[in-house]
Amino acid sequence: MGFDLPIALDRTAAAPLADQLAGQLRLVAAHGVLKMGEKLPSTRTLAAGLGVSRTVTAAAYEQLYAEGWIAGRHGSGTYVVAVPPGSPSRRPSRPTDLVDAAEPGADLRPGSPWAAGIRPAIWRRAWRAAADPAPDARPIRAGLSEYRTAVAEHAVRHRGLAPEPADVLATGGTTVAVAELGRALFEPGDIIAVEEPGYPRAMGALRAAGLVVVPARVDQDGIVVADLPDGVRAVYCTPAHQFPLGGTLPAGRRVDLIAWARERGAWIIEDDYDGELRYDVAPLPLLASLGPDVVIHLGTTSKILTPTLGCGWMIAPPEVVASVVHLRAETGAGPSLAGQRVYTALASSGDLARHLRRVRSELAARRGLVVATLSTAGQDVLGDRAGTHVVVPLPGAQAERTLIAAARDRGLLLDGLQRCFAGRPSRFGLTLGYAAPPHREVLSGALLTLVALRRAG
Ligand SMILES: Cc1ncc(COP(=O)(O)O)c(C=O)c1O
Repeated sequence: MGFDLPIALDRTAAAPLADQLAGQLRLVAAHGVLKMGEKLPSTRTLAAGLGVSRTVTAAAYEQLYAEGWIAGRHGSGTYVVAVPPGSPSRRPSRPTDLVDAAEPGADLRPGSPWAAGIRPAIWRRAWRAAADPAPDARPIRAGLSEYRTAVAEHAVRHRGLAPEPADVLATGGTTVAVAELGRALFEPGDIIAVEEPGYPRAMGALRAAGLVVVPARVDQDGIVVADLPDGVRAVYCTPAHQFPLGGTLPAGRRVDLIAWARERGAWIIEDDYDGELRYDVAPLPLLASLGPDVVIHLGTTSKILTPTLGCGWMIAPPEVVASVVHLRAETGAGPSLAGQRVYTALASSGDLARHLRRVRSELAARRGLVVATLSTAGQDVLGDRAGTHVVVPLPGAQAERTLIAAARDRGLLLDGLQRCFAGRPSRFGLTLGYAAPPHREVLSGALLTLVALRRAG
């Protein structure tokens, strides 16, 4: 047999490669990818396919022999002779191995951060520090001044943007900020172009403010400026890492977009939801640094920490900041100060910068695991080396729906591209998030479930 098993070893993990390999072979068999009586690749073929030494594959096979579920027939190779415990076919409800990963909670939908990676000690320390000041008697509509300063420093350090703290407005997160902009800057019936495919909640928030959302075409590099519709008051886009397709807007198109907005007196809403998370090249200049007069830049702690903090920022021209603060005062709304205090404590202690380094290294490894596992199984993966998700293309709407439903039956939560279209969907596939599983092993198990489902058709 040739080598086409969905196995990806992680050289950065503490577990020895042979143990990882034995564990993944068990999972593969438990999931029916390897069947009873099936011949395994030779230790030499497997070693070549995985790019490891034969000692590793031989040690893994030894382990599986000792456990009694593979056997060698002299001269004719190695065969699966028993299905390992945890096989869904034998013990459907046993929460172990792959089944464990596929229990409700194996969540590969996009959007979640690696919340389990926040060290409890730094989290507790930040919340304690946030409780030090006396209770506030009144809301602070623009946000705490120490938070605005901390965000300005974050922008310089991580995004190459140097705003004054006065240009920074605290928000309750990106989606809340988009909703506020929809009401503060525009009139009901105004037309806004939103990337298509794009972020469904941005479309929802703008529509809820009475605006008319029209599609802005996107290709593999992001928004296509030349095709932007006429008559729009603003365009919403994700240039650092297009959501969902995963492209990075090239420098030339950035310059064109700024020129387009200036010519028409339109606003650009730059959603920089995961801009801190890049695993290859340095990021390109933000739209906000190229066109600070026409760009409203939105950042969030949702990807680098957790959306439960309800904490983000807007960096925008003074008239925009003033309009949003005015709306908040009129409607009695405004972001919670608790999240801002927690963020400020994390940033000023240096814990946030350390956490960010861990998040980058963990998510880069996870992305590698996703790409290796799915490519080995012959599945394409799209999207830049960034953020917390990739796109797995599928041939059509029905294939997408069927796969998502079949995965749900196995306790694996998936999401699809169709949801990212305001109009008729023209691309199909999974928007596959890899940050939510608490550990890489859970991610591996969930990926194997996915591969098995794809193979089952
Ligand atoms: C494109 C995009 N923007 C914004 C957000 C979320 O931002 P927030 O939680 O701050 O509303 C997400 C989260 O999934 C996203 O995918």
